[in-house]
Amino acid sequence: MRAVVIREHGSFDKLLLEDIAVPELSSDQVRVRVKAAALNHLDTWVRRGVTGFRFPLPIIPGCDGAGVVDAVGDAAHGIEPGMECVLSPGIGHPLERGYGILGETRDGTCAEYIVVPRESILKKPERLSWEEAAAWPLTFLTAWAMLVTRARIQPGEWIVIHAAGSGVGIAATQIARMFGARVIGTASTDEKRKRARELGAEHALPYEGFAREVRGITGKRGADIVVDHVGPDTFNGSVACLRKGGRLVTCGGTSGHEITFDVRHLFFKSLSFLGSTMGSPEDLKTVLGHVAAGRLSPVIDSVFSLDEIADAHRRLAERVVFGKVVVTL
Ligand SMILES: NC(=O)c1ccc[n+]([C@@H]2O[C@H](COP(=O)([O-])OP(=O)(O)OC[C@H]3O[C@@H](n4cnc5c(N)ncnc54)[C@H](OP(=O)(O)O)[C@@H]3O)[C@@H](O)[C@H]2O)c1
Repeated sequence: MRAVVIREHGSFDKLLLEDIAVPELSSDQVRVRVKAAALNHLDTWVRRGVTGFRFPLPIIPGCDGAGVVDAVGDAAHGIEPGMECVLSPGIGHPLERGYGILGETRDGTCAEYIVVPRESILKKPERLSWEEAAAWPLTFLTAWAMLVTRARIQPGEWIVIHAAGSGVGIAATQIARMFGARVIGTASTDEKRKRARELGAEHALPYEGFAREVRGITGKRGADIVVDHVGPDTFNGSVACLRKGGRLVTCGGTSGHEITFDVRHLFFKSLSFLGSTMGSPEDLKTVLGHVAAGRLSPVIDSVFSLDEIADAHRRLAERVVFGKVVVTL
């Protein structure tokens, strides 16, 4: 089968297109013929490498995917060959030992075939194209866990969503609107801010001076929740723009991972800092229901073929995307 293989970390030339054996399956596993895979920022980390973290190289990247069941192990009950499916990007529960992510801890979706546990198979929502079906799981699950499970979002609350054009930002904006919350997005360009408003953000701000703007918009009260995965570049502004008792929820540090802040803000304002990674299998099923019903919808930035995997990665790394970069097979 054709697959993207990363044998060593580095630039786009480390994304090797190879012919390798179709993976064998054990009795509790399912093999899927992948129709579309979607990239996440995690693909960039896996390609480049992350200091202090060892990825199991060689690895096939790609956390998200959708396709057709090709073969089913004897003990993988309830799944039939030919079933159209979406793959759970996470394997297990993120709070338990042994949790894994496709394309990070084991081979992922940028290949013609993938073998996954039976529990990873979800029914593909009929209303979605293959590209759309591949484009929602990781980011919508992450944003759901951040806003609903961790930050306990409430109707009418003001939510600041950084990088509103990112995969996680777009998902968070839709989820916040679905809960009747009010969204203030941030993004680096006029075009991304315009698109954030079209998606339901009441305000879309540049990063420069956003904390002061948020205090103005909220009548000096401050935001109820900040969704921050940018890290050092936004963190102190995020803390400053929160109301007393506000919650900051983070799932990442795109601009870096070390932050200096004044701890007095944390205790004087009785803030909550919440970390969040991926989400539970139960959350994924809940999100699937909303996606299938059309209440939540992935936004696709661009579609590439497997041969164009380096161009797909370059687009993500160049920070020009609004929504998901998808690879079709
Ligand atoms: N822990 C988890 O479970 C989990 C799950 C999903 C994602 N994440 C993390 O969350 C972050 C977002 O993921 P994603 O897949 O949504 O990302 P994405 O679609 O690639 O979007 C990232 C966005 O971040 C903004 N950004 C701000 N500072 C940046 C910088 N210094 N370099 C590059 N981009 C910068 C850019 O938007 P502007 O140009 O508008 O600033 C960019 O478009 C990543 O760090 C990712 O690793 C974590």
